[in-house]
Amino acid sequence: MATSKGSTVSGSTTEKSSSLQAEILLYLSTNNELNTWSYAKERGLDHQLVVGTIRSIESLGDVIKSEQHTSRSIGLTDEAKGLLRDGSYEYNIFQAIPADKGIEQPQLMKLPNANIGFAKAMSKGWLQVDKSSKPPMVKRKVDTVQDEVQHLLQRIHSLELTDSSAEEVVELKKRKLVEDVTINYFTVTKSAGFSTNISKPEADLTSEMLQSGSWKTVNFKPKNFHAKGLLPSYGCLHPLLKVRTEYRQIFLEMGFTEMPTNNFVENSFWNFDALFTPQKHPARDVQDTFFLSDPAVTTKFPEEYLQKVKEVHATGAFGSIGYQYDWQLDETQKNVLRTHTTAVSTRMLYQLAQEKTFRPAKYFSIDKVFRNENLDSTHLAEFNQIEGLIADYNLTLGDLIGVLYQFFRKLGMTKLRFKPAYNPYTEPSMEIFSYHEGLQRWIEVGNSGMFRPEMLLPMGFSEDVSVIAWGLSLERPTMILYGINNIRDLVGPEVDLKMCRRNPICRVIPAKSEE
Ligand code: PHE
Repeated sequence: MATSKGSTVSGSTTEKSSSLQAEILLYLSTNNELNTWSYAKERGLDHQLVVGTIRSIESLGDVIKSEQHTSRSIGLTDEAKGLLRDGSYEYNIFQAIPADKGIEQPQLMKLPNANIGFAKAMSKGWLQVDKSSKPPMVKRKVDTVQDEVQHLLQRIHSLELTDSSAEEVVELKKRKLVEDVTINYFTVTKSAGFSTNISKPEADLTSEMLQSGSWKTVNFKPKNFHAKGLLPSYGCLHPLLKVRTEYRQIFLEMGFTEMPTNNFVENSFWNFDALFTPQKHPARDVQDTFFLSDPAVTTKFPEEYLQKVKEVHATGAFGSIGYQYDWQLDETQKNVLRTHTTAVSTRMLYQLAQEKTFRPAKYFSIDKVFRNENLDSTHLAEFNQIEGLIADYNLTLGDLIGVLYQFFRKLGMTKLRFKPAYNPYTEPSMEIFSYHEGLQRWIEVGNSGMFRPEMLLPMGFSEDVSVIAWGLSLERPTMILYGINNIRDLVGPEVDLKMCRRNPICRVIPAKSEE
């Protein structure tokens, strides 16, 4: 049989008080009321132990009720407790005297507290002194004595004697053996949930209870149906991820293929030169672009293509006069954190141009780009771009506008406006504005254009192939959709992670402006 570890603590206070708990409950099952003071007295128990046990029963629920009372009583002083244990001074003096011959007085007076003991024994007529001998002899005057003081102290201690005005008590008070005390005691009665079986109620049903069948008899803690439930923990997506999914879905519905965007590090050739961005363009400045120090350069490029790009910049080619400047190889070799996903599109288009026969294609990407920006409530040094492109024969600006209407309609934006713009790699170029019904104003939603022949022809496309493209940030529409005014509430170290959890699974776009 297994012995529980609990057996090693048998006789501990907890065990004592739990058996006292049972006794008290048994007492109350047959008596209407329990007075802690008299209960302790009857059982010869320490009153504090009884009170403590009552308290612990009360903590188990609505088993008993108690009411506090105070009353005056008498108690033993510390000195009296010594006398209770060792006998009174006068009794000890009497006992110290040999029954037949007596004792020399100086010898007797060496005993502890001999002065009081001697005086008290003399006044009680227990002793006589023979002063004729030198030194004087003290002898017993009676054969036996009773230690009445000790007996009285015993009765007071056992609460048999509590009347502070009793003659013998007054006497002890004068001797400072007894003092008045205030006692706090309790009267205890049964309460609604009274039971003599008060095992701590179980909070949970366990598999052991089911197996043993003890669930039928176990005392369960009542369920609190008013308690607030714990929110189950669950994962949640960041708003940027949710909006990214929406955009991806729209592109996929429109038959676009996702481009591989898994390189944050790009070189200037694919990020700028291949996009007909001159080497002195301000976007290529350290103020705008993050340059890498290690590895600082890329040296492997498709050589033939690189030469064509160089030519179109420096001297002009493919019917263009180019920029007419001294194009430098080391400038194109510089590694950067890509500043736009158009670098991804460029690589993709170059690959497409290498295919034997041209095939029309629709591509999209959504990923991170990096710019050396001054951070404010709408700008971060890294953000996400959404980009789409279509390569086909003889596309026009009308095709671009048509595709943009189709794309933005899927996002719920039906009113669009276009404003002429400039990009080194597109001509014509257009900024896209949409009327936001919620905010009740026109907001810029993206940039677009038709890639220039200076970009496409060096890749190897024939002249009748045109490419229309557009790009926008992911953060801006996310902020509008989720009502976030400061981009730092959306990304970065100050983001409150609960924001993701609070955001609804479904959004209703507000019909009226809240501004
Ligand atoms: N690359 C542009 C930007 O970063 C967006 C763009 C993409 C413009 C494609 C025209 C065509 O803003």
